[in-house]
This record gives sequence, structure tokens and C-alpha cells, in this order.
Amino acid sequence: MKILVTGGTGFIGSHTVVELQNRGYQVVIVDNLSNSDAKIVDSIEKITGTRPTLEVFDLVDREKTADFFKRHNDLKGIIHFAAFKAVGESVQFPLKYYRNNLDSLVNILEAMKENNIPNFVFSSSCTVYGQPEELPVSEKAPIQKAESPYGNTKQISEEIITDTVKVTDIHAIALRYFNPIGAHESALIGELPIGVPNNLVPFITQTAIGLRQQLSVFGEDYHTHDGTAVRDYIHVVDLAKAHVVAIDRMVNHKMKKPLEIFNLGTGIGYSVLDVINAFEKVSGLKLNYKIVARREGDIEKVWANPDFSNRELGWKADRNLEEMVDSAWKWEQAFRGKTIKPE
Ligand code: UD1
Repeated sequence: MKILVTGGTGFIGSHTVVELQNRGYQVVIVDNLSNSDAKIVDSIEKITGTRPTLEVFDLVDREKTADFFKRHNDLKGIIHFAAFKAVGESVQFPLKYYRNNLDSLVNILEAMKENNIPNFVFSSSCTVYGQPEELPVSEKAPIQKAESPYGNTKQISEEIITDTVKVTDIHAIALRYFNPIGAHESALIGELPIGVPNNLVPFITQTAIGLRQQLSVFGEDYHTHDGTAVRDYIHVVDLAKAHVVAIDRMVNHKMKKPLEIFNLGTGIGYSVLDVINAFEKVSGLKLNYKIVARREGDIEKVWANPDFSNRELGWKADRNLEEMVDSAWKWEQAFRGKTIKPE
């Protein structure tokens, strides 16, 4: 069974391709390589023994997308990761985000309809909940006005999908990710931000390896156990496996309605300092960090209620925080070709 993975050379995409291939699916990747490297395909081949097909083009291009789907009208499903994801950048360049994240989605859904391709998995985000009133946050929590154009593209995308499944034969599963971190145990694939990382864990590992001088911890006056902001960090391999479960569910006709939405988190909230402490423990290093002012647009705390996903999907994130930061650290060292030992 052939599955298209858009953005399949990216962080979550590459880990998902590995799990799909391990499960016996045939994978075609479409990626414009705007935030990734074609060499990732070599690493995927090393891990799984199978080389996924890679086609490099931009899904914002309607003609190229239509042409691709004509050539691959035997696809059984699509997992759509390809999108821009930097919150701050989206505030500066909203139209870039709307054009990229929404046009590509519409092009894909149109081509699916045209070619009778039934199954669509969408990369959504816990950002749709904003700062939830109740924690842990379940799928039933109200959607709040987006804090950023990036977050808004996720909300609008869910609406586009909702409207589309009503009037087509397309079935969709939207997966709302909490904070994916970590890397594959082989240390052959991982998160590779281009430029200065926005996200916490790549910033930690790049600081520890000497690429960045110091980590800034954004805010220590939140109403949390140690004053720093709390998130639900989830191992990227656990997250990737959930996508395979979603595809299995679709191709085996186990869905209960045409659009299903699931939280992908562990259900545990950790603060920024908890993450730093876990990193220091597994690496044996002291991390150079300082507390600075809050980052604009950050929420105070969020963690998932994963009960519905655990029950319905029969899936559970089982890797703990130490395994997450340990794998991220091994990946960083392997990628830079450097080993940093504690003094
Ligand atoms: C946000 C979005 C998420 C989106 C992701 C994409 C929310 C709740 N989450 O994640 O949906 O997919 O961006 O990039 O809106 N931090 C520091 N120092 C740093 C970097 C981060 O202290 O140098 C702190 C942040 O203030 C935050 C935590 O670490 O409290 C996690 O930050 P980050 O990794 O950027 O993820 P989110 O902002 O939670």
C-alpha cells in the first residue's frame, strides 16, 4: 500500500516515514526541501533498508501537484506534514504562511477528490487550544482565537478539512501534536533547524555542543511549580507511531466518523527547568543558561488529556523525558561528529 508523506524529509516526517516502512507501507515523499535536506533519504534507507521515493517540488504549485497525483492515483493515503512552523516568523510574514500552509492543503484535497484518494492525515497542533481554561486539555476543549498566523493556519486548515469531508468521500484524521522532541535511537535522523533554533530542545543541544553561547529561559514568573512555562513534551518516535496507527485505522475502515481529531501528548507537563535538569542528568554536563523576560505570545502551561487517543487508537506515548533529551543529545553529537564528555 502506497502512502504519500508530504514534508517527509522534515523532523516529524522523516521519523514517520521510518515507522511506515517498518510496518510495510510503501512511501513516496514530496518535499520542497525548504527546511530539510535530501540526504535524509539516505539515512532513512540505512535505518529501514528501504529507500523511499523522493519527489522535490512545491505543493503550492497547483499544476505540479495535480500532475503528481495523476501519476500516483493508486495512493491509499496521505500524511500531510509539509508546512511552515515558526511562530515568530509567521507574525512578521503572515502572507507567506497563509499562502504556503493553506494553498498546499487546498491543492492536495482537490487532487485527492479528483483521483478518488480516500485517506488524509493532517498535522495539527495543540496551539489551536490557546491557553486552555481546563487542564489537561481534551479534544472537546474550545478552539481559541489563534495567537499567531501560524496557529491560525492550523485552525483554518482544520476548518477546510471539516468542510471538505462533509461533501466528498475523503476521510480525515487531524492529529494535534503537543511538543515533539527527541530523535530516532539510531541517531541517523533528528531535528535539524536551519539557522538559530526557535524551539527549546534544539537550542539546548546546540548550546551544549558549543554552537550557541547560552540558552535564554523565557520567564520565571509563570504560575507553575518552578515559575517557568510548562509543556507536554512527546518523543518524536512515539508521535510517528501514532501516524501509522492512524493510517492503519483508515485503510482498515475503523474510523467512526469522516473526520476524527486526536491529541498526541503524554499527559505530563514539564517546565523549561525540568527539561534542562533532565538534559543535565543524562549528559552529565552543566548547561549555560540564564533567565530572561517572557517570550511574547507564549502561553503559561498546557498538557494533553490523551485518554481519547489512548483508548480509540490503542496508542500510548511511552518514552519518558530523559529518553527524549538523551536521544536528542545523541543525535546532535552524531550529526556534528563530536562527542562531549563531562569534565
Ligand atoms: C509552539 C507551539 C506549537 C508549535 C511550535 C512550532 C504552542 C503551545 N505551541 O511550541 O504548536 O508547533 O511552537 O515551533 O503554541 N523556551 C525557552 N528558551 C528557548 C526556547 C524556548 O525558554 O530558547 C521555552 C518557551 O518559552 C516555552 C518552551 O521553552 O515555554 C517550549 O518552547 P518551544 O520549543 O519554542 O515550543 P512552543 O512555543 O511550546
